[in-house]
Amino acid sequence: MQQPSTVRAVTTRRLLDMKAQGTKIVCLTAYDALMASIFDHAGVDVLLVGDSLGNIVQGHETTIPVTLEDIIYHTKAVRRGASRALIVADMPFMSYQVHPDEAFRNAGRLMKEAGAAAVKLEGGQRVLDAVARMTAAGIPVMGHLGLTPQSIYQFGSYQARGREQEEAEQIYRDALALQEAGAFAIVLEKIPASLAKRITESLRIPTIGIGAGPWCDGQILVYADMLGLTVDFHPRFVRRYDNLFERITDAVRRYSEDVRRGDFPNESESY
Ligand code: KIV
Repeated sequence: MQQPSTVRAVTTRRLLDMKAQGTKIVCLTAYDALMASIFDHAGVDVLLVGDSLGNIVQGHETTIPVTLEDIIYHTKAVRRGASRALIVADMPFMSYQVHPDEAFRNAGRLMKEAGAAAVKLEGGQRVLDAVARMTAAGIPVMGHLGLTPQSIYQFGSYQARGREQEEAEQIYRDALALQEAGAFAIVLEKIPASLAKRITESLRIPTIGIGAGPWCDGQILVYADMLGLTVDFHPRFVRRYDNLFERITDAVRRYSEDVRRGDFPNESESY
């Protein structure tokens, strides 16, 4: 029988309390058990199995090709690696747009089969029925507004959103509507800091910013960007905390040299 864990897992309720107490929420993406266990150990509050895995893990140009099965596979791995962080599974393109019932069924698979504690989906007005359907049945939903990468072909670029008054007002209204529909948090991606501040101050639920300035209740980054694993992606909102591309390249070069000159393994590394 599985032993009860002694670690107090982060819950959606806890995130609401953190907002009320002014405690910032730390979020990162994760796609596998190894990274999830490191981030969990480091005390990250929320691990998002983002559809950014389409770019980071699968090598696609966009997140559009990512499937529900892909997210289920990676969420299972992250679930096995983490014991404290709240695990949020991203709903991929076309898994929630067709009909609220289908969205509900797919979100249920992410929780029941993959072990997610919550799901995330992109959009405002057009996803409210799906959000209400899920939250009424006890599925915690995180919204995502501003630059929503699944709409890249509609936007035409990855530029910041909500710079014009009309779009800013739409994003603001969408945030309030998502809260009313039952969302427990909202990711705000690449919008002006002043707009994110206004939204954050108007909501009971936490905002999680990525390129949305310092006033959000929490922050999220794609881990490969903040660790310097991605080399040709330098948006201003990414702070690089390491340069793992260079450090891994260096380590692999040294290993290669040792193998080629017969220096590895040595006697103490042999049986
Ligand atoms: O897919 C993802 O990683 C995301 C975050 C960037 C918020 O949606």
